[in-house]
Amino acid sequence: MLPQEIVRAKRDGRPLDDATIAAFVRGITDGSVSESQAAAFAMAVFFRGMSLEERVALTRAMRDSGRVMEWRSLGLPGPVIDKHSTGGVGDKVSLILAPMLAACGGFVPMVSGRGLGHTGGTLDKFESIPGYTAKPDTALLRRVVKEVGCAVIGATDDIAPADRRLYAIRDVTATVESLDLITASILSKKLAAGLDALVMDVKFGSGAFMQRLEDAEALADSIVTVSKGAGLPAVALLTDMNEVLGRSAGNALEMRECLAILRGGPADPRLYEVTAELAASLLALCGLAPDAVAGREMADRAIASGAAAERFARMVTALGGPADLLERPDRHLESAPVVRPVFPGRAGFVGAVDTRGIGMAVVALGGGRTRTTDAIDFAVGFDDVAGLGDAVGPQDRPLAVLHARTEPQADEAERRLRSAVGVVDTPPQRGPLIAKRLE
Ligand code: URA
Repeated sequence: MLPQEIVRAKRDGRPLDDATIAAFVRGITDGSVSESQAAAFAMAVFFRGMSLEERVALTRAMRDSGRVMEWRSLGLPGPVIDKHSTGGVGDKVSLILAPMLAACGGFVPMVSGRGLGHTGGTLDKFESIPGYTAKPDTALLRRVVKEVGCAVIGATDDIAPADRRLYAIRDVTATVESLDLITASILSKKLAAGLDALVMDVKFGSGAFMQRLEDAEALADSIVTVSKGAGLPAVALLTDMNEVLGRSAGNALEMRECLAILRGGPADPRLYEVTAELAASLLALCGLAPDAVAGREMADRAIASGAAAERFARMVTALGGPADLLERPDRHLESAPVVRPVFPGRAGFVGAVDTRGIGMAVVALGGGRTRTTDAIDFAVGFDDVAGLGDAVGPQDRPLAVLHARTEPQADEAERRLRSAVGVVDTPPQRGPLIAKRLE
């Protein structure tokens, strides 16, 4: 069928079979489907939707548009597993979770992304480590996964190239927000990583891509169903993003927060809970634990025993970073020249947070990108961020401590932070941190 006939069929709500979808995706990959045809297809899907069979076919075809990683020949003594998050502000879960899972017997080739809009990216956080190779060649990646158990890396161009082209077209044609296309986009890359099991962290709230819980739940349900349909067992947790996760937002600052937790220091309870529960669900799903309760015990032990820290240190060294990063982060991670607390205008409690606004303040400081070609300033951002219900005051209890490159940037970030955080007289009730688990 010609590309325009495929677009016409979808436009008119007729079902597309697997071979037709595969042919269209091949055309996206080799360029024989034009940009306008791909855009029209995306818009037709946006309005007409896709059946489960169509979504599975699209996901598989996009996976097969590039290299699919293969781990079996390495004879690994455990399952190949990973987590994917829909993204948030201060979402540093991967930094702790990858070595935690490795310490529990999993093998984790964690293909992570850069920051997108107001959300930070795991890859940017790892690039704050001097010398760290985020794009190792295949031989090095396989060696690190086999010997250390985890490697947090960036996607190479040969992974799901159809998704890369289609995503760029969706980005400029108002078709990003299609459940079907988001599902296929995320899962094609995860399937291409050759996983045995996947846990999804689908976030909702003021700092999430899907702000409403119902929308996040629909996405989680779609991802779990399509993933299973494509042969990859998956579980999803719906987690709260109505405030910064943990105490920091900004690349090197988040790295420091996680290194302290791995070293056995006190962890922000919400950050730790999300991380350990994602681990628990995945360990149960992939069979390393008999159930999620046992999985949680394994995850807790991996941190308490220092086993996760040991995996983290070995991964950083194997990928070219400093051997003493855990012990001496300040020797290696950048710090900002301007550091100051930001106080609220009046005393009270943190009542509501425009978490997206805080993410945009980090971007404005240079900690994120406004264009894909922008360089990141790893040093900037916020730490000691007050959470919902925390007492704050104009003299002694700051909303956060800000880290900036220049005084004018600090002034602007201060203004943005103050307008993002509401101060009220009585502490609000927090909603559930983990709203639901879908299997
Ligand atoms: N992240 C992705 O990888 N793809 C989407 O479509 C949306 C978010």
